[in-house]
This record gives sequence, C-alpha cells and structure tokens, in this order.
Amino acid sequence: MNKYLVITGASRGIGLATAKLFLEHNFMVINLSRGVCPLSEVIHIPVDLAQSGFEEHLQPRLLPHLENAEMVVLVHNAARLEQDMVNQIQANSFRNILEINVVAPTILNQIVLPAMGNGSAIIYIGSTLSEKAVAGTFSYVTSKHAVVGLMRATCQDLMGTGIHTACVCPGFTDTEMLRTHLNNDQAILEHIKGMNAQHRLIDPEEIAQTIYFAATQPVLNGAVIHANLGQKEA
Ligand SMILES: NC(=O)c1ccc[n+]([C@@H]2O[C@H](COP(=O)([O-])OP(=O)(O)OC[C@H]3O[C@@H](n4cnc5c(N)ncnc54)[C@H](OP(=O)(O)O)[C@@H]3O)[C@@H](O)[C@H]2O)c1
Repeated sequence: MNKYLVITGASRGIGLATAKLFLEHNFMVINLSRGVCPLSEVIHIPVDLAQSGFEEHLQPRLLPHLENAEMVVLVHNAARLEQDMVNQIQANSFRNILEINVVAPTILNQIVLPAMGNGSAIIYIGSTLSEKAVAGTFSYVTSKHAVVGLMRATCQDLMGTGIHTACVCPGFTDTEMLRTHLNNDQAILEHIKGMNAQHRLIDPEEIAQTIYFAATQPVLNGAVIHANLGQKEA
C-alpha cells in the first residue's frame, strides 16, 4: 500500500520524531515547514504557514507527490507559542498565531482531502492548554482550544468518508518550543518536571508513538487524547 505522511513542522521537535517513526513504518513522509527536516528520506516542501496565500505555491508542489497515495495521514503539528496576555496582545501578533495554529490546518485539509482514501487520518496536535488555561499564554491557549474545535468539527463533517480524526494533546515535552518558552531556566524546568507523575519531561518520541497510534486506530475518531504523564493540579 502507498502510505503517505504529510506533516507540518518536522524540522525539529515532535514533528521530527514523528517523521522518523512513520519512515520506520514504511510511510513516504512529506514535511511542510520553513527549516529543512534533517532526515534525508523526507521530502521537504518549504512553506511559511503564517503567510497568507501560502497555498498558491504549496498546492502545485504537494499534490503531485500524492497522486498514487492510497492512505494519507495529515498531521497538523506546526505551531507558535508566545508569551502574551489578554490586556496587552497586539492584534497583528494574535492574527499571526491564529494563522499558523488554526487557519493553516484548515487550508491544508482542503488541499489534501481530495487525495485521502479510505483509512486516511487527520491528526491535530493540541496541548494540555487545549482544555485549560494558564496566565501569560493568551494566544496559545485560545488557539489550542480552537484546535479541539477544528478536530470535533472535522469529525462531524467527514462522517462516512472513511477518514478519521483525533487531537493529541501533549504535556511538557523536551523540545525547543518548551525550552525557549522557559528561557532554558533550569530551576523552572525542574519545577515543571515535578508537575507530573514521573517527575520528568516527555520525550518527543513518546508523542510520536501516540500520534502514530491515533493515526492508525479509526476507533479513536473524534477523540481528544491527553499525553501528559498525568499532570498534577495545583
Ligand atoms: N513541547 C511541548 O511541551 C508541547 C506541549 C504541548 C503541545 N505541544 C505542541 O506540539 C507541537 C510541536 O511542538 P514542538 O514542541 O515540537 O515545537 P518546536 O520544536 O518549536 O517545533 C515547531 C515546528 O513548527 C514549525 N513552524 C513554526 N512556525 C512555522 C511557520 N510559520 N511555518 C511553517 N512551520 C512553522 C517549525 O518549523 P520551522 O521553524 O522550520 O518553520 C518547527 O518544525 C505544536 O503544535 C505544539 O503546540 C508542544
């Protein structure tokens, strides 16, 4: 079977680990991000998902790769995380984050859906902050709540197509996004490790395994899957 993974943000972090795992499962992997995916087997199509109109350049470069696809897994992984608050956020910054985290997945669905046969899957990447909020991450919390809405609406709209969807919500995972957000502050990292049952950060590979499981189990259609080691509530 010709199996394809189309993933955003596989230049590093969770996306990179996911690309590697799907290659091991004999998928052809296509990465969409600005930076190149370091895995030589991955087809890289450069795109800035924040740029309005990105689809005009992307569609003619992406669709020829999917002509013979029988199963396509589309993973909406790329995201931007900024520190901002309800009383301070700039409209343009908010728009930019919504473009990457919410609008781009919607556009990509429309491009890729015609190539998705029976058994295909759309996996959204949410966050623990898809279902709760912490102070100082206004745009991220808002957009990650919207991602659960995207997934639930996708589930309803694609009934009967043979395509399933789910939203994987990682907890604190050891990637550049988390470390940059915390300014690589060792004390805060140690504190965060203490906020789950195993007192450690999650490996990106663990989230990749969860994404693979969600993508290959249609019974999970419509599910919000928490992958956070069990977070301690304050
Ligand atoms: N790490 C965590 O603790 C954690 C927790 C909960 C949820 N998540 C979610 O997991 C997903 C992956 O996060 P991560 O931790 O692996 O982050 P990461 O290491 O910062 O990787 C983010 C990826 O998104 C891509 N990206 C960002 N802006 C883009 C743009 N404008 N156009 C195209 N691609 C863009 C980046 O590629 P380029 O920069 O090369 O374009 C990169 O490959 C995200 O949805 C994130 O919200 C992460």
